[in-house]
Amino acid sequence: MCGIIGYIGDQPANEVIFDGLTRLEYRGYDSAGIAVLDGGRIVLAKDVGKLRHLREILVTNFPSRASPGIGHTRWATHGRPSSFNAHPHGDCRGTLMVAHNGIIENYMKLKRALTAAGHVFQSETDTEVLAHLIESHYQGDLEAAVLKALADVEGAYALVVLHRDHPDQLVCVRKESPLIVGLGRGEQFIASDVTAIMQHTRQVVYLENGEGAVVRRDGVTFFDLAGRHLAKTPTTLDWNPVAAEKGGFPHFMLKEIYEQPQVIRNTIGGRTSEEEGKIYLTELGLSGPDIFRTQRIVMVGCGTAFYAGCVGKYLIEQLVRVPVECDLASEFRYRQPLVDGNTLVVAISQSGETADTLAAVREARARGAKVLGIVNAKESSLTREVDGLVYIHAGPEIGVASTKAYIGMLTAQVLLALLLGKIRGVLDTAFVQQTIRDLKVLPQLIERLLADTSGIRALAEKFKDARNFLYLGRGINFPTAMEGALKLKEISYIHAEAYAAGEMKHGPIALIDKDLPVMAIAANQGAYDKLVSNLKEVQARSGTVIAVASERNEEIRHVTEYVIPIPDCPDILSPILSVIPLQLFAYYVADLRGLDVDQPRNLAKSVTVE
Ligand code: AGP
Repeated sequence: MCGIIGYIGDQPANEVIFDGLTRLEYRGYDSAGIAVLDGGRIVLAKDVGKLRHLREILVTNFPSRASPGIGHTRWATHGRPSSFNAHPHGDCRGTLMVAHNGIIENYMKLKRALTAAGHVFQSETDTEVLAHLIESHYQGDLEAAVLKALADVEGAYALVVLHRDHPDQLVCVRKESPLIVGLGRGEQFIASDVTAIMQHTRQVVYLENGEGAVVRRDGVTFFDLAGRHLAKTPTTLDWNPVAAEKGGFPHFMLKEIYEQPQVIRNTIGGRTSEEEGKIYLTELGLSGPDIFRTQRIVMVGCGTAFYAGCVGKYLIEQLVRVPVECDLASEFRYRQPLVDGNTLVVAISQSGETADTLAAVREARARGAKVLGIVNAKESSLTREVDGLVYIHAGPEIGVASTKAYIGMLTAQVLLALLLGKIRGVLDTAFVQQTIRDLKVLPQLIERLLADTSGIRALAEKFKDARNFLYLGRGINFPTAMEGALKLKEISYIHAEAYAAGEMKHGPIALIDKDLPVMAIAANQGAYDKLVSNLKEVQARSGTVIAVASERNEEIRHVTEYVIPIPDCPDILSPILSVIPLQLFAYYVADLRGLDVDQPRNLAKSVTVE
């Protein structure tokens, strides 16, 4: 997903922008560029490649002291990765530059009209249409020209504009794709998200859909697409800049795996009373009648968030006794879902900006359902479109492969299930008190696991050249198998398939041979005996099994070649513990294969386009 930075102030704009772009690298990109105003002329440098290879053209050989400027990291949608398709893009006469994140859906129609009017295009991108459109409307007032141009545009955009005749300002507008303004003293920042600028300022304004800003050194004015001026209240960031650094770890992903015990503490912090056996979710936004009226629950999300919702299904059905469905947000939004005022839709998202999940939320609300968001990124779009919230306090997650946010999502769902189960009279106080105690022990159990990962690394060394993997789980750990398989796929590029272990004999067992390693999650006692039978089936066909199992379980060693021991915990919490070895296994395999763990190929941290 593209990254945008704008800067106006007394620092060298290209250096501030380059640094900001490096903090957005986790979003995934294939090219980058910077444009600045230097004494009335626009200086532009851009090319394909990673920023570490572009430092020479973007910093070393770049006019210093120039300002304002804009920068962009591009994740190609329209037009292949190339220097001419990289942003920023200019108009015919080189009077202005734009950088954009999103998709201009009617760009071909606009491009034909502009070409007919004599405009000459340099790229294959939809974005360049914006530059020529603004040029065609420009009559001295940049804000007005931008607004007139956007009146013709259909689609999603986070847009920042630099103009040769306006060295005192940058103009930016947001529709769907997130954009924020960072407020400094004598300097201002524009960015796709806070991680890019929080080392400069903690005061930010989140632009809503259809809002824009004229950003000047001494201040910012806000407007809507009708040109009406708006009053916006800054938010003070509570994420510290250090949190967005690697902190001595080789990769953000490993750092975030090691942050997981604290994520659990942060997510349950202030929300449980062991003494009373009560859960407090102050932003839940659901009344008692809402909760009693709920006849079914639908979990929606994408990728890891979807798998977290699949764990939530088991949790809520066991603890609340209400039917729960899990739906991929990208499917839910188009299947005319049968939801109504008696349905609670739970939308799960780390970024709160995933286009499919946002669309699913709008579809659910349009059909009368109450929607609850389980979200990490504060003030993100999703948080503004739901009836209630359960924040996961995971802090900024930089690694593209989600780890600590997943643990936060699971922890939040345990709290939600306890609360709903207690309110609906399904759970007694003693059970809630005991589960709170068990939850509070989890961080130490994870810390014990993380204290020595050499065994997992040794297994990664042994299996790093596998071409395929089968992940098996049963019951509440079937989703754990799905999440574990996704981790391996997305960062090591090894094909991995997850299956409910009981389903193996209905087909996939034909795949089993000595070249297909099997990772089995055997930590939940409730399904253990059946799973052991499935593993014997695998062994009988020369399959190689690695089992994630209780450290006290000796029997498992007779049916598997390798065991990753984990501490015991109640079944309903076992997905939180069981996934840790799978995260580490995927991490070590990818690292041993020399791959880019934090920014896997083709992936973006948050997919804000369809
Ligand atoms: C998970 O490792 C992936 N990065 C991806 O599947 C991600 O979970 C998915 O895109 C949803 O993102 P969200 O949680 O920000 O909505």
